Amino acid sequence: MGIRSNIDQKTIQQLKEKMEQGLLPQWVITDPDIYQLEVEKIFGKTWQFLAHETELKEPGSYVTRWIVNDPILLVKNKEGKIKAFLNSCSHRGVQLCTADRGNKKTFTCPYHGWSYNLEGDLIGIVAGNKVYGEEMCKTEWRLREIPQVASYQGMIFGNLDPNAEPLDDYLGEMKWYFDLMLGRGDGGMEVRGVPQRWVAKANWKSTAENFAADPYHVQTTHRSTVEMGISPEDPLYAGYGHQVVMKNGHGINVITSATGKARVPFQGMPEEMWPMFEKNLTPEQLDIQSRVTVFVGGAYPNLSFVSPIHGTEGHLHNYLNFRLWRPIGPDHVEVWCWFMIDKAAPEEYKEAAYRGYLGSFGPSGTLEQDDTETWARIVESSKGLMARDKELSYNSVSNYLMGLTNVEPDESFPGPGTAYPTCYTDALSRRLHENWLELISKDLYVKEEV
Ligand code: FES
Ligand SMILES: [Fe+2]
Repeated sequence: MGIRSNIDQKTIQQLKEKMEQGLLPQWVITDPDIYQLEVEKIFGKTWQFLAHETELKEPGSYVTRWIVNDPILLVKNKEGKIKAFLNSCSHRGVQLCTADRGNKKTFTCPYHGWSYNLEGDLIGIVAGNKVYGEEMCKTEWRLREIPQVASYQGMIFGNLDPNAEPLDDYLGEMKWYFDLMLGRGDGGMEVRGVPQRWVAKANWKSTAENFAADPYHVQTTHRSTVEMGISPEDPLYAGYGHQVVMKNGHGINVITSATGKARVPFQGMPEEMWPMFEKNLTPEQLDIQSRVTVFVGGAYPNLSFVSPIHGTEGHLHNYLNFRLWRPIGPDHVEVWCWFMIDKAAPEEYKEAAYRGYLGSFGPSGTLEQDDTETWARIVESSKGLMARDKELSYNSVSNYLMGLTNVEPDESFPGPGTAYPTCYTDALSRRLHENWLELISKDLYVKEEV
């Protein structure tokens, strides 16, 4: 099974060789044939984040989401279990539910009025037997279920591949860092507000890499924060700490201050919560927490996160921002952006942190606007004749040489994964793109010569 591709084994071999040298040919960024392979072989087979459990509070709560082009209806059934269906009516395929979220007992199709319950069962056919003669077997026409749904630390994921490895195995070492970020407070995290979403001119590989693996851009792209006195003048400031590379292309940057220690305990969370964190985290996790100023990273392929500190001394706030880069073509992403905070935090702290988040991330956020500009420029310049030359006669390759030969892993780092003693390295970016090539070239079905 698989789409026929214009990408042949010779091309895959050339990409492999370049990537071993720390180079990524620029044509792959927005190439339409590559994009088709990505949709099928990456997004059709990896675990995709759908929602946080606090978005579905009561039985009947639902949200609508997407796995690239597949519309998803996520509901909480009467027993409180999460079910995920293709959000498409079994009769003629119309998108069944067009609202973003809500609470319902049944979903009725706007086209011919077939209706379904929270289990996805077809429970009503307009005019029923009168128009279909014999009673139609309703179970055959129930909503199609998403092949796999699973959650970890309240994060609900779906997978279109029934044979994909379980979510636990897929996340692997990343679970330890999810425990640290999402499981530090009693009751875990909650989503505040609704996920913001907007379309950006960008390729998903660039956005995922920018967030998960590239603290090096911070001192230039976000220069205005230095000029405003929010960030230090030291050009190395986002590089202190460790970059951790994990199985399946997951990774995290544990950014510290120049001393290797945290700027403030527990990233500025209220002091009354510290004993709770100490109770819920392991000594190794607490060791990392005692160093960190900002966590920033990603779960492959397209889920990124940042846990920053905002504010001024005495009014510091920490939160967790998760974002999903949904590809909508080779040169655009729909960004989905969630604000999460410890359920156990005081209400006024949550509100102040939320306001800090809105000023930094999302369409109104200053940091967001800086990044969006650079992603669009990558897309623009990947479309020229020189960049699209697959023979590479113009040497149109992107440079991933940082740390390739001059940075060794730090065995003393207390967390799982391969940790490098700086965040200014392309180690994780290289791993992302190696993973990308492994996935798109797996069982490649090349177009037959005619
Ligand atoms: S398409 Fe849904 S009832 Fe006909
Ligand atoms: Fe950025």
